[in-house]
Amino acid sequence: MIRKTILLLFLLLAIFLAWRFIRPLNIFVVTEAFDFPVDTSVIPQPLSGLGARECGACHPAFYEEWRTTIHSQAWTEPYFQTDWQFDGSQQICRNCHTPLDRQQPHVILGFRDKEKWDPIMEPNPDFDPDLQHEGVTCAACHVRDGRIVGVLGIQDAPHPVQQLGDPNEVCVRCHVVDGDRWDTFFRFPPCGTVAEIRSNPDSRLTRTDIETLAAYQDNVAEMQVTASAKTPTQAGHSQGKTGEITVADTASLGCVQCHMPLVQRPLVEGGQVRPVRRHLWRGGHDPDMVKSGLQVRFEEASGESTDTRTFVLTLTNVGAAHYLPTGTPDRHLTVDLRLLDSEGRVLKEQNHSLKRTVIWRPFIIDLRDTQLPRWQPRSYELSIPANSRQTAAAIEAIVRYHLLDEKRRKRIGYENQEPIAYEVFRHGLAVTGIDSDLETLEFAMTQGEDFHYMQGNALALPFSDNGLAVPVQRTAVVLNT
Ligand code: HEC
Ligand code: HEC
Ligand code: HEC
Ligand code: HEC
Ligand code: HEC
Repeated sequence: MIRKTILLLFLLLAIFLAWRFIRPLNIFVVTEAFDFPVDTSVIPQPLSGLGARECGACHPAFYEEWRTTIHSQAWTEPYFQTDWQFDGSQQICRNCHTPLDRQQPHVILGFRDKEKWDPIMEPNPDFDPDLQHEGVTCAACHVRDGRIVGVLGIQDAPHPVQQLGDPNEVCVRCHVVDGDRWDTFFRFPPCGTVAEIRSNPDSRLTRTDIETLAAYQDNVAEMQVTASAKTPTQAGHSQGKTGEITVADTASLGCVQCHMPLVQRPLVEGGQVRPVRRHLWRGGHDPDMVKSGLQVRFEEASGESTDTRTFVLTLTNVGAAHYLPTGTPDRHLTVDLRLLDSEGRVLKEQNHSLKRTVIWRPFIIDLRDTQLPRWQPRSYELSIPANSRQTAAAIEAIVRYHLLDEKRRKRIGYENQEPIAYEVFRHGLAVTGIDSDLETLEFAMTQGEDFHYMQGNALALPFSDNGLAVPVQRTAVVLNT
């Protein structure tokens, strides 16, 4: 009898686990914040539509910048499209990648199931396919309740304006994927950018960050600079009236300060010149942005040992308040340390990856996370016998940023036109002494992928008194457009 019961329990457990492995899976819990698209039933007067070109007719400089960004491609971009279709073309993905109701072919009336897989839909008479192709378009961030949302509080614009307390409120709608459930065991929710910032007391913006980056805002003094003791799970997320996620103390997140650098220019042609924010949002798709956040040192350690020589590569996230990399768990860095002989052959090799590893099935579990929190240096060492001079000629270090890995690319069948990875650092140190054997090095470096060779530190940052690197100062340049 007992054996039978145990057997039965075992069987039930096996069925349960099997179901967990094959059931449709959302990597995130769908919270009320993005059940539904943004309501645009009232178009701000005197506009006749919500297309980016319409805004661009009066705000050309903002339009031209936005056009170059991944926000404008959030729907059309081939990696998203492939992944979306691979994942069963879920409705829920649209609410961040095409967040306005007019961008979606269906009106969502509700959901049949608790997990919100199965929306109740009817055709949307206002569906605008051109607007859909604009992805995260101007109105996605700027139109609420028939008004244009902005932080300047301009009263004499031709359209009604609603003033926002802090510009970072705009970002959290889509860059926070929150929600705990009984079957989730993670430190940070997927795409944990905000939680990463909050989890690391050092990673909040420093006073210098805020003063240099937000110099023109009146409320700088009120910004909370020091970290609160909140843990990521109690980070103060709550739902606002409109269903949007609100995050306590958004000012200290600094998204806008780093991702939308200041510039002096008018809002409209011939208008008043003022400090405004460029609409650039550079991130993982931009090597220069990634390099601006990453400091790389590669040097021989002054060793106590006479038998071995040790070479150390140290990576520090000096420029991103969140982890580096951040965002979807696809993003990662790899580090290769290679000992080369004079012919450029690899004698010894070490590979590391800096990434967040999450198990999705049967439960969502954070396995480990080796991404770089801000200001916390990470070192990798390669040691060789001190007398290996005859064979070893050089040590080479290569750091690469990956938008996704090759395995996943193949699995979802994404035929990339753009590279899915690029180098952010490559440097060789001659083993035989200083400045020798550069030709051999060059040989080794031209092997492999066709990437350009970058000498030295990805970025030379000035250091402040407390030993922390000072962020690149973004002085506003005058652009008269
Ligand atoms: C007919 C011209 C025109 C159109 C079309 C237009 N705007 Fe404006 N907008 C203005 C003017 C003029 C101002 C005020 C400029 C000033 O005073 O320097 C302004 C101000 C703004 C501001 C600043 C508000 C603040 O107080 O922070 C934002 C944001 C803005 N517009 C966004 C948009 C968006 C988004 C669209 C498209 C949905 C749009 N505008 C369409 C003319 C226009
Ligand atoms: C309506 C939703 C939405 C809002 C609001 C939003 N984003 Fe995004 N953001 C996205 C999506 C979706 C992507 C990814 C698009 C893609 O790659 O397909 C993205 C990508 C990015 C990237 C990555 C660029 C890259 O190279 O991969 C950065 C940086 C970024 N957003 C910053 C911001 C900042 C700062 C704000 C606030 C001003 C903001 N976003 C507001 C949806 C949004
Ligand atoms: C991802 C969100 C997002 C998108 C998309 C976006 N904006 Fe903005 N925009 C902002 C934020 C945030 C601010 C406030 C920046 C600040 O001043 O702190 C802003 C400010 C502005 C301003 C006022 C100047 C300023 O810096 O305050 C204008 C004008 C403007 N946007 C126009 C546009 C136009 C036109 C488009 C589309 C071509 C667009 N925006 C797309 C987030 C966005
Ligand atoms: C102190 C500057 C700084 C602050 C503050 C900051 N970022 Fe970043 N962000 C960076 C840098 C540098 C990178 C490039 C390196 C990387 O990917 O981590 C980046 C990368 C990103 C990416 C690219 C990830 C991808 O998938 O390609 C996203 C998304 C992003 N940031 C969003 C945000 C949001 C949202 C906030 C606010 C909650 C924010 N950032 C605050 C500097 C900053
Ligand atoms: C809560 C908002 C939100 C939802 C819902 C959402 N995304 Fe995203 N997605 C983002 C943001 C923000 C980014 C970019 C920043 C980052 O890396 O976190 C992004 C990036 C991506 C990327 C990387 C694109 C690139 O350029 O490399 C893919 C692929 C993607 N999303 C697919 C999906 C799919 C498929 C779904 C539905 C299952 C989905 N997303 C639902 C906000 C969202």
